[in-house]
Amino acid sequence: SVVRLEDYIPTPYSIDHVSLTVRLDPLETFVTSTLSIAPREGGSEEAALTLDGDDLVFVSARLNGDVLEDSAYSASDEQFILKNPPQEAFTLELVTKLAPQKNTQLMGLYRSNGAYCTQCEAEGFRRITYFYDRPDVLSVYDVRIEAPVEVKYLLANGNLVDSGTMSTPEGYPEDQLWHYACWQDPFPKPSYLFALVAGDLARVEDRFVTRSGRDITLHIYVEHGKEDRVDHAMDSLKRSMKWDEDVFDREYDLDIFMIVAVSDFNMGAMENKGLNVFNDKYVLAKPETATDTDYALIEGVIAHEYFHNWTGNRITCRDWFQLCLKEGLTVFRDQEFSSDMRSRPVKRISDVQQLRARQFPEDSGPLAHQVRPEVYSEINNFYTSTVYEKGAEVCRMLETLLGKEGFKAGLDLYFDRFDGQAVTIEDFIASFEEACSVDLSQFALWYRQAGTPDLVATYSYDAAREQLSLSIEQSCPPTPGQPTKKVMHIPVRFGLVGRDGSPVGFTSVIDANSGQEIGKSDCTVLEIRERQHKFILTGVSKDAIPSLLRGFSAPVHLRTNLTHDDYLCLMGHDTDPFNRWEAAQFILMDHLVQQTRALQAGANTSSHALDDSILEALKACLMDDSLEHAFRAQLLQLPIESDVGREIGHDVDPDAIHRARESLRHALSTALGDSLIDLYKALDDKDTSFRSDASSAGRRALRNGLLDLALARKEEAISDLAVAHYHNATNMTDRFAALASLTRNEMPAANALLDAFHAEFTNDALVIDKWLSLQASAPQEETLQRVKDLLSHPSFSMNNPNRVRSLIGAFAMNNQVQFNRKDGEGFKLVADIIIELDKSNPQTAARLANNFRSWKALEPDRQGQAKKELLRIANTESLSKDVADIANRCLQ
Ligand code: ARG
Ligand code: ZN
Repeated sequence: SVVRLEDYIPTPYSIDHVSLTVRLDPLETFVTSTLSIAPREGGSEEAALTLDGDDLVFVSARLNGDVLEDSAYSASDEQFILKNPPQEAFTLELVTKLAPQKNTQLMGLYRSNGAYCTQCEAEGFRRITYFYDRPDVLSVYDVRIEAPVEVKYLLANGNLVDSGTMSTPEGYPEDQLWHYACWQDPFPKPSYLFALVAGDLARVEDRFVTRSGRDITLHIYVEHGKEDRVDHAMDSLKRSMKWDEDVFDREYDLDIFMIVAVSDFNMGAMENKGLNVFNDKYVLAKPETATDTDYALIEGVIAHEYFHNWTGNRITCRDWFQLCLKEGLTVFRDQEFSSDMRSRPVKRISDVQQLRARQFPEDSGPLAHQVRPEVYSEINNFYTSTVYEKGAEVCRMLETLLGKEGFKAGLDLYFDRFDGQAVTIEDFIASFEEACSVDLSQFALWYRQAGTPDLVATYSYDAAREQLSLSIEQSCPPTPGQPTKKVMHIPVRFGLVGRDGSPVGFTSVIDANSGQEIGKSDCTVLEIRERQHKFILTGVSKDAIPSLLRGFSAPVHLRTNLTHDDYLCLMGHDTDPFNRWEAAQFILMDHLVQQTRALQAGANTSSHALDDSILEALKACLMDDSLEHAFRAQLLQLPIESDVGREIGHDVDPDAIHRARESLRHALSTALGDSLIDLYKALDDKDTSFRSDASSAGRRALRNGLLDLALARKEEAISDLAVAHYHNATNMTDRFAALASLTRNEMPAANALLDAFHAEFTNDALVIDKWLSLQASAPQEETLQRVKDLLSHPSFSMNNPNRVRSLIGAFAMNNQVQFNRKDGEGFKLVADIIIELDKSNPQTAARLANNFRSWKALEPDRQGQAKKELLRIANTESLSKDVADIANRCLQ
């Protein structure tokens, strides 16, 4: 059964108010839900009331206070039907019974480390009580939670209005003391934003005063003993609150904002109104246990969930097809926040790296789907990189096309007009069209057409006319269900760079297709709207190189007729830092693709020597003190293996790619020689007090990157240096970087350090996760067996999603050679885990299954092995809808 966008109809009844009483018990929690229901105006009269349920145990039902006759309703584990509802306002009281302790799916009400918590997005509320569990039914909630006093904190959405002790409920020992708390959330919300948390947790408190002077209580709840790891999250929260006021004029709206960190969580975090629930990995940090990357991720996720309060909660989605309405926009907002907190170009580069590593493969394989999908069978499988990251790129393109002010005006209109409503992408786009008086109908194709567009740009310079002409041709490969594509509206940010490196101006930009002048000397964006779109820049007084797609102004794949020397020039001189990095990537990618092809054709590894000019250019950037450390660290990173595979596109042999990449690392390392170690030493910060700010992190990133590249030479002296680096490290960033470099470069010293690391952090699950994923990512042959052994290691548990992702997720995602083994053993291992995990946690199992998404691009032998495993998964008995959906789409 599938759900289709075109079938949308509103519910025949509204539920204006929900009153919940939850009596907590691990095996017998009772939920009493009293719903104020009314027929919707214009709804089909006398329609039955059909509420969703999932795995529910029905206890009782009352209509307007009276017990319902058996014939008046039907109740199953997945539905409650009131056959002839009154055609005026009425109340319906429904009682259900839950066993949170047995809830291994981590959807609905479950237990994590003894605490009760909920996850309702997308369809988890129906696992708590019967409801219209869809985002267009907005209700005001009040919630009463009851539990023994040992369950210390009782939390729900909104403001706390009452609490105290109560008499012990029947059936419990008389000497057991009970208490209750009542919460009211004044803002109407869809059921997916409901949350309840209860447990003996530790609480860290702070305050934030909004710009209109409201004093907000901030609480972060964590496991006892983790209070010393909350500072960074709290600080990130306060900066997020301030930033949303400063940049988007969005103020917080309740008296209290709470964050709870739990260790069992399917995803990253959840924006429940006033009560965000987090995977503890995105909250907990102290220098000894968290890396700079963790610090940055925490800051981003805290901001993301907080920003949802306006983009998601105050204005929500009409249906789940509109998921990108809140997710794309909120990712865009959190990216902007991090750019303001840190280095904008460095943030942009890492976002594009992530887009290429996660979204591009999705878009180019059997799981490709639109940013706003039109059909799904399991909505949880659409919390994808396409919806989130490409969705954010679409918002970014809007900003590029409309300018900062235009974009802000459109958003302001959106906030104004739709506050308190559940809306669609069309509503979103219309806000910008109206605010800016533009036609975005062609642009809106970004929401409706899947696949990464290809752009081919060709330029030529006419010295006599002082004109540079630029022709850009667009196409978009077929994707499932979309064999042909319409022409899209693509913003290409650009500039000219002289061959001596100086910026070059122009007088005007002419659209050669129409003959119209479309811009003057200040034009920075070309709007591509035709299949073959030609532009002429006039008044170009000297030969220049076009720097195209600056800042990655559109999520496309760009090829050009720029020469190797053109790219070297951009790499050394472009005023756009993103394109300097991109130029280096282009050159390195080109080399890797050629080298891989040669290896596949039977050549040995050193068939293509690295051009000296590249080395010189890279070295110049690395040593250039005017460039930020973090940016130089990014320049050191070679394109990842999966990116090379996608660039090659078909008959992919991951072994050849790996060999090509390793030999390039070796060549670079050898050629850069001592300069790597000299710079590494020069960057040693004698000040041992740890600072987590972006520039300190950048220095560490460059230093660790240099050490890693130096290790590619596999020399003992450098290995010793890395071991010393490990031992001298005063923070997890440096320590783990040394361990990772030694492990990935297959240095013998790694094994003893891996053991020592485990011994030191045995009781620190989040650190153990790093240890698991590092071993799973190591490219060597023995990794397969090591991963199998780790499955029965006491530090591993199949019940915890973080452990599973760290071991199996890292193996499938980051270890291209071992996952894609020619003997099929990598696929088999991951398939075994998917099948086993599916029995307890289908959502996380389905996430793992996504790693098969690029199988069709592999060479025939590996393709055969992958297909065999996909078929085995698809044919497994009583497979969940979640995994079946992914496996079947992969096979289609
Ligand atoms: N809305 C959450 C976020 O992006 C993600 C929740 C997804 N949960 C799920 N079960 N699909 O912050
Ligand atoms: Zn989100």
